[in-house]
Amino acid sequence: MIKILIIKAFMSHSYKKLVILASGTGSNAEKIISYFNNSTDVKVCAVLSNNKKAEVLPMAESYGVPTMAFDREALYQSGAVLGHLKTLAPDLIVLAGFLWMIPEDIIQAFPDKIINIHPSLLPKFGGKGMYGSRVHRAVLAAGEKETGISIHYVNQHYDEGKLIAQFKTALSDNDDLDSVLAKIKQLEHGNYARVIANLLENKHG
Ligand code: GRF
Repeated sequence: MIKILIIKAFMSHSYKKLVILASGTGSNAEKIISYFNNSTDVKVCAVLSNNKKAEVLPMAESYGVPTMAFDREALYQSGAVLGHLKTLAPDLIVLAGFLWMIPEDIIQAFPDKIINIHPSLLPKFGGKGMYGSRVHRAVLAAGEKETGISIHYVNQHYDEGKLIAQFKTALSDNDDLDSVLAKIKQLEHGNYARVIANLLENKHG
């Protein structure tokens, strides 16, 4: 009897659960999924998207991660997305290129459990409408000497939640949109999953 209990205790190893929300390509989502693919501690248990045609969905399915697409009504009115998230009970909800505002009810249901990655050194070049190449164009137009990425908690205001970690890269006069995009992608792909792993171990980014 005691032997069985001891074996059961070892078998009931619990994973930390991640849910990823993404709207587009999902290159960051893929880095995160592959980073934790063989982990015995962390499992990506779902990828959700507001865009049923987003490339992130077949990518996630190719790794065996369940996916779900939802519309505005499910996110903002019926509570369907909130209900699904509650069922999944994630330790962390990771936004990876998710373009819609997270509604108040989800923020309240998961306090300090929703994080985002933004492709600039916040508070610079953040806020509504600042996403993708718009951010990098603004950085170049302002003649910035450096740019980078910010990983932060999500609150009711676009890109204003508490910072978790930032990573920088230098800019020169030779930089253009393509080179900035490449530098930012490199920072994102090299850091987001590791920061998530640290957060789940209760270490700061
Ligand atoms: C990234 O640049 C991220 O900073 C921003 O959205 C982009 C998503 O890119 N929030 P991808 O779909 O992961 O390639």
